[in-house]
Amino acid sequence: MFFSHRRGSIVGRRFAPTFVVLAHTGSSVIRALLCGLILMAMGATLPFADAQKLEMSVDVSKDGAKIDRNIFGQFAEHLGHGVYEGIWVGPDSKIPNTRGIRRDVVEALKAIHVPNVRWPGGCFADEFHWRNGIGSPRTVTLNPNWGGVMEPNSFGTHEFMDFLDQIGAEAYLSVNVGSGTPREASEWLEYLTTAQPTTLAKERAANGHPAPYRIGFLGIGNESWDCGGNMTPDYYLSQLKIYSRFVRNFNPAQQDKQQMLKIAVGPGGGELRWTEWTEAIMKAYQHHSWSWDMNGLSMHSYTVVRWPPSFKSVGFTEAEYSQILKSTLEMEDLITKHSAIMDKYDPEKKVALVVDEWGAWYDPLPGSNPGFLVQQNSLRDAVLAALNLNIFARHADRVRMANIAQMINVLQAMIITDKEKMVLTPTYYVFKMYLPFQDATLVPVSFDAGTYTHDKITLPRVDAIAAKDKAGKFWLELTNVDPNEPVEIEVTLAGISAKSATGETLTAPKVDAVNTFDAPHTLQPKPISAKVQGDKLVLKLEPKSVTVISVEQ
Ligand code: AHR
Repeated sequence: MFFSHRRGSIVGRRFAPTFVVLAHTGSSVIRALLCGLILMAMGATLPFADAQKLEMSVDVSKDGAKIDRNIFGQFAEHLGHGVYEGIWVGPDSKIPNTRGIRRDVVEALKAIHVPNVRWPGGCFADEFHWRNGIGSPRTVTLNPNWGGVMEPNSFGTHEFMDFLDQIGAEAYLSVNVGSGTPREASEWLEYLTTAQPTTLAKERAANGHPAPYRIGFLGIGNESWDCGGNMTPDYYLSQLKIYSRFVRNFNPAQQDKQQMLKIAVGPGGGELRWTEWTEAIMKAYQHHSWSWDMNGLSMHSYTVVRWPPSFKSVGFTEAEYSQILKSTLEMEDLITKHSAIMDKYDPEKKVALVVDEWGAWYDPLPGSNPGFLVQQNSLRDAVLAALNLNIFARHADRVRMANIAQMINVLQAMIITDKEKMVLTPTYYVFKMYLPFQDATLVPVSFDAGTYTHDKITLPRVDAIAAKDKAGKFWLELTNVDPNEPVEIEVTLAGISAKSATGETLTAPKVDAVNTFDAPHTLQPKPISAKVQGDKLVLKLEPKSVTVISVEQ
């Protein structure tokens, strides 16, 4: 078995029957829980507790943190058809391409303004040797992590940078700490970034790129506690310090401004071994000397319920729908827990929490190579994506980057391809609908979330975030988790004299609805009507829907 991934169990969390989300801060769900309990204990009746009508209020004059556009980042690993076929078809392919990179995929990704792409892995990164992926002919190797297939290395450094250039995204390179050396990584960065005519720079020029490349982010290792070398925190710290010191970015344009941000390996869950990991790295950071630094701590958290992943990505019941969404909401506690540790050692929040692997991980589709992590992407995944993006946004002061796993054909993908065919998933459309939130300023929103219950699972029925974009326009995102009932929302708006509102909603008759090559438009955002009545914004959310509204003033 080439692929065997094991994780610790994820501790479940029960929700109180009614949720009152008071503010936009990271601890909002905990406070919601407490409020629900207090009000219940007092015998109080919450407004609309049983009706399909919920109230919200927003003071648009209030500002929260900036929602960093990098939370909408992507992840492209050499895994299954994520890179080969998904991005790279080669210049001789009949599939329309630009220098080997498929054009349909580039056009689709440009439309969602991908801010950064993490590459080449994942577990693959700790077995990737960059020299195999430059020049000609390429060295053919193996990909033991993912199906044991041959790795042609045809998509290497220059192809990745060309791809980024075509879609307009920043590079997030994950360097090989597990089976590489500091020298190998430092030479890669010199090859990529120096403007001086060193031997490596001349080699870069001979391979077609005289100008230095810009590298926005550097990941130092991947899951070094597991597939990246099973290191202890202390052992990893010794590597982190060495790589942070010697793997330099020489690009003259990135010296004072726009410096490359270094991201250390962080936790992979909420249990003791992970909190101890975060403690160790952050404690070392607090006392770090001039000779090393870090700007981000990575965190990986998949929605899986249990390992190995066994939930179906299509053809599932409401029971599985509610279990998966319950599990995904654990992201809130996980971020809160690790942020609290980071706050102890970094109260100024200089180090970002970078959720650089997140998303749903289901049972591989029947007939697919289990090492290729192929799954369908349904309306449930759209709801799941919105819930996670909202959690990141509410923690915008600490969570400044995230990368959904993975961009194409793998796990919770934006895009699914099959030879010349391409289809955009419901998750893709969520990322598109959230475009106004890239670099927007969070606005606190208070609301009674109501409840949705199935069997023994009770979840907040509604979720929401609000923000002002760079032009000052006000935006509201609303998710109705309930798969059966619509909900009427009345938003009281302060600090804005609203004239009208328009928006889009993404929904379908069934929770497991998907876009297919034959029916690619089953799920697409559709216009939704929202009324402004005095200081109120009134609209109805369809069951299992994701909605984004803008307000004109
Ligand atoms: O995304 C698939 C794998 O999940 C990545 O390679 C690894 O980092 C994680 O465990």
